[in-house]
Amino acid sequence: MSNYVDLDRIRRATAEKPEGDSARAGDIFDKAFSSVELARADEAKTIGIYPYFQPISAQHGGTATVDGREMIITGSNDYLGLTQDTRLEEAAKAVFDDFGTSCTGSRFLTGTLSLHEELERRLADFLGAEAILTFSTGFLGALAVLSSLTGRQDILYFDRENHASLYDGARLSFGSLRKYKHNDLDHLERLLAKDADKPGGRMIVTDGVFSMSGHIADLPGIVELARKYGARVAVDDAHATGVLGKNGRGTPEHFDQEGEVDLIIGTFSKSFASVGGFVAGSRVVVNYIKHTARPFIFTAALPAMQVAATLKALEIMETEPEHREKLWENVARLRNGMNALGFDTLGSETPIVPVLIGPDELTVLFWKALWEEGIFTTPALPPGVPTGQSLIRTSVNANHGPEQIDRLLEVFAGVGEHLGVIG
Ligand SMILES: Cc1ncc(COP(=O)(O)O)c(C=O)c1O
Repeated sequence: MSNYVDLDRIRRATAEKPEGDSARAGDIFDKAFSSVELARADEAKTIGIYPYFQPISAQHGGTATVDGREMIITGSNDYLGLTQDTRLEEAAKAVFDDFGTSCTGSRFLTGTLSLHEELERRLADFLGAEAILTFSTGFLGALAVLSSLTGRQDILYFDRENHASLYDGARLSFGSLRKYKHNDLDHLERLLAKDADKPGGRMIVTDGVFSMSGHIADLPGIVELARKYGARVAVDDAHATGVLGKNGRGTPEHFDQEGEVDLIIGTFSKSFASVGGFVAGSRVVVNYIKHTARPFIFTAALPAMQVAATLKALEIMETEPEHREKLWENVARLRNGMNALGFDTLGSETPIVPVLIGPDELTVLFWKALWEEGIFTTPALPPGVPTGQSLIRTSVNANHGPEQIDRLLEVFAGVGEHLGVIG
């Protein structure tokens, strides 16, 4: 197998720097001019194996059109398949005349719409929470929640595989961060016990569904440890709201732990087929975040059209369980199919079905072979995944047809055998 990285080319690329700049010592841009990552990306583009930022010109059902070619797309987060639902489009259009294209102001000042408050009330009813605060994205929500609540003496306990937004929220705070091995509650307990005599508050923070492995956090175990050591629990349920639980209320409902979780951080950019984020919690804590979180106060509010689309998605989520049922039917078809072919799907139990390939180069070659066969996927390489565990992240939505999933499996089988990933 050829190595897709030509080190000589990388060295040449990293040597390129505009004339004159070299005279300036300690130029802050040096890291860009000498970036191995950029040189590697350029090299991959030159030889046609760069998988990212592929521009999609149209999307229908389970397909995406790229360069005029319609491909089966897998790996998107449109779990309930609502991004093309005409009812969401109509809802967005209906508020356009009253609110136009943007709020152009922060929620704190001129950007709070009656629609924001309606969404917060309706979502609180759905999740059984006392209060909800919405954000312009889920990423900003994580920054807002963790930075406003975590003071100097406070300690956050993180599953190592937590999403980047949570890590950045922790970095933005003044507290300390302890990382425990992925889903390893013995490790978590050792860390909690070690800090038992330290002052300050503590909070265990975990993804509900992990975005790369598709694993579900052991929420009952986490809640038990939290009670034992006096910690709060925050769950980022970005990949679980609308997906897990009989009524789609996410990881807490899945484990019958509703009411046991202190904060749920969520997004509208996945099952809700919109954009934006939220936190659900007690009235006082949510109100505190509302009045102190800089990533909430100092950024423009969610536009009305997105809020209206989210509200419509919520209504569909509550009244039409058939989308979730179809999603799980598709998940079973995909995951069972991959497992039957001999792929390692890392024990995923959710619509995120990772296909472990291993070495980076092999994973990129695998991606390229899928691409040539008309399958749109994205590889996950380090640092997004542990070294040596690169994977192709597949997922299906409610609007994939059985014939699309079967075609996907057929192509994976052919490529997997050709590249020696399966026997
Ligand atoms: C686990 C998790 N949390 C948070 C986010 C951020 O959500 P948003 O797209 O709304 O910024 C994502 C999105 O990729 C995610 O996967």
